[in-house]
Order: sequence, then structure tokens, then C-alpha cells
Amino acid sequence: MKRWMSLLPLLAISGCGGEQSALLPHGEGAAEIARLSWLLFFICAVIFLIVMAATWFAIRGGKQSREWLAGGRVVVLGGIAFPVVVLTFLLGYSVWMMRADALGNSGEPALRIHVSGEQWWWRISYERPGGTQIQSANEIRIPVGADVEFVLTAPDVIHSLWIPSLGGKVDMIPGRTTRMRAHAIRAGAYRGQCAEYCGGPHAFMSLSVIAMPQAEFDLWMKSESAEAPPPKTSAETDGAKLFQAAGCGACHAVRGTEAKGVLGPDLTHFGSRRAIAAETLPMSEDNIMRFIADGQQLKPGNKMPPYKIFSRDELKLLTAYLRGLR
Ligand code: CUA
Repeated sequence: MKRWMSLLPLLAISGCGGEQSALLPHGEGAAEIARLSWLLFFICAVIFLIVMAATWFAIRGGKQSREWLAGGRVVVLGGIAFPVVVLTFLLGYSVWMMRADALGNSGEPALRIHVSGEQWWWRISYERPGGTQIQSANEIRIPVGADVEFVLTAPDVIHSLWIPSLGGKVDMIPGRTTRMRAHAIRAGAYRGQCAEYCGGPHAFMSLSVIAMPQAEFDLWMKSESAEAPPPKTSAETDGAKLFQAAGCGACHAVRGTEAKGVLGPDLTHFGSRRAIAAETLPMSEDNIMRFIADGQQLKPGNKMPPYKIFSRDELKLLTAYLRGLR
């Protein structure tokens, strides 16, 4: 075996770390799932070793041990009784694990967030006291230690919300409403991904869930609920005019302005998000300009047509305006 090949398992293991790992749970549901995974792994490893040892004895062992292995008692005990006991235990354990209150599924949630899976981004809407809803996109913020309920829908095709560090995945099915509970036990940013093939750029349909301490979350929610800040610099002002003149507001909403479109992501606080294009590109001037000029290159088939009419300077003005929307 070449020496570099011994590094391959390391590469595979490194895939288990980071912001999007079911093996690094930061939520109650994910912790239960990780426990079940490790239990299954441990039991399967032990059974694998027993089977390998039996195989070795069946091939290389002495006459006596081969005869013992071929005997009826070993077949009945090892081939029927043992699997029945082990599988019944595992079934019982996983059913018990899925009992409603184990995953925090009981009681009224502290926060309810509507998430709609769309080709190929996430429409987010926070329920606020008094029945108002605060629109956002592609980035969800939740308080640590609170029971959060995601209310899931899809207007076009089936999507699936999966945030491995927080919990299991739940499908989003057109014409139906599904629900998912999350309870973050640590502050941090957890990446999620659409887990059901939903067309070409399905793999580019990601999102992040940022769990923050309650006080910080309350401050954030206050600023998120506010209307968009007015442009500050002259570039932002010119960008805002261009945004309006070019008709961007027909598809995008910027609360507090004339832009009230609902087809695309709400951009009211776009500049405060950490990524663009459903968490597939870091938030940067260059990436925003690329997406406006020809988002079809980055996410083929998305509903936003390429805007090659804009000069480079105009793209810079639009970008200045968008990044100022904090
Ligand atoms: Cu949405 Cu896959």
C-alpha cells in the first residue's frame, strides 16, 4: 500500500467535523440521533468482529471447532436467536428515542419560524407577538436553549430541511405543512442543506442557522424587525435609485421602500447576512456583482434573469446599496 493511501481515512473523518455534522451535535434532537448512531456503530463493530472470527475458524480452525460451528445449536442460537434479540432491542430503543417528548416535541414552542423551500432558496418568516411576521431568507437565527418550531412548506417541488448539528431532517411537501423542532444547546453557526433532490442546483440550496444567547437574539430581532436603513453614502443613494429604476422591487422586497416584490428573497437586511445565494457564496462585493450580472452561471435555472445591462460601475453602486441594508 502506498504511504499516501493511509491518509485516506483521515480525509473521510475530516468530513465529520465543522458546521454541518450529525456527529457533532449542538442540539437536543441531534444529540439523540448521534447517540443512536454510535450505539449502532458499536454493536455492528462487535458483530462484525464475531463474524470474522467465526469465518477464520471455519476456514483455518481445527476439525473440532469446524464441527462445532457447523452444529445445529450454533446455527439456531447464532443465526436466529441472536439476531432476533439484537434487532428487537435496537427497534425498541429507536422507537423509545423517537417518543414525542424526547425530541422536545411537546408544548408550545418559544419561537415559531415558517420556512418555505423554494427553487433554490429558503423563504424565512418569523412569527412575532401580535400576529405579525418578519420576512427574511436563507439565514435563520434562534435563541440558544429555546424550543423552536419550524413550520415547513414548499410551493413548487419537494424539498427537505436538514440541519445535521441540530436534528433530523423533515421533508417539505407542496400542499402540506410539516413541522420540525429544534433546541440548540450551544451558540454557534450551523449549516443546513436541502436533502431532497429538487432540480439542477439542488446542491446549492443551503442555509445557516445561527444560535445566539437570548439577549443577543432579542437585540437582533429588534433590528431585523425594523425597516431597511436609509442609504448613507452617495454610492448607496445612487444604488438605491438604480435598484428602484431597474425594477428590482418587482421581485424583491425591501421593507420601508417601494420594493415590495415577493417572488425572490426579501432583501431588507441583506447586508447583515454572512453569505449570498442560499449560503453558497461568501458575502463579498465581487460575488454580489457576479450574481446580479449573471446568476444563471452560478445557479442555473433560478428565477432571476441575468442583468448584463448593468455596467461595472452600476453593479458596484447596486452592491453598495445592498451591502448597506443591514
Ligand atoms: Cu431543495 Cu433540494
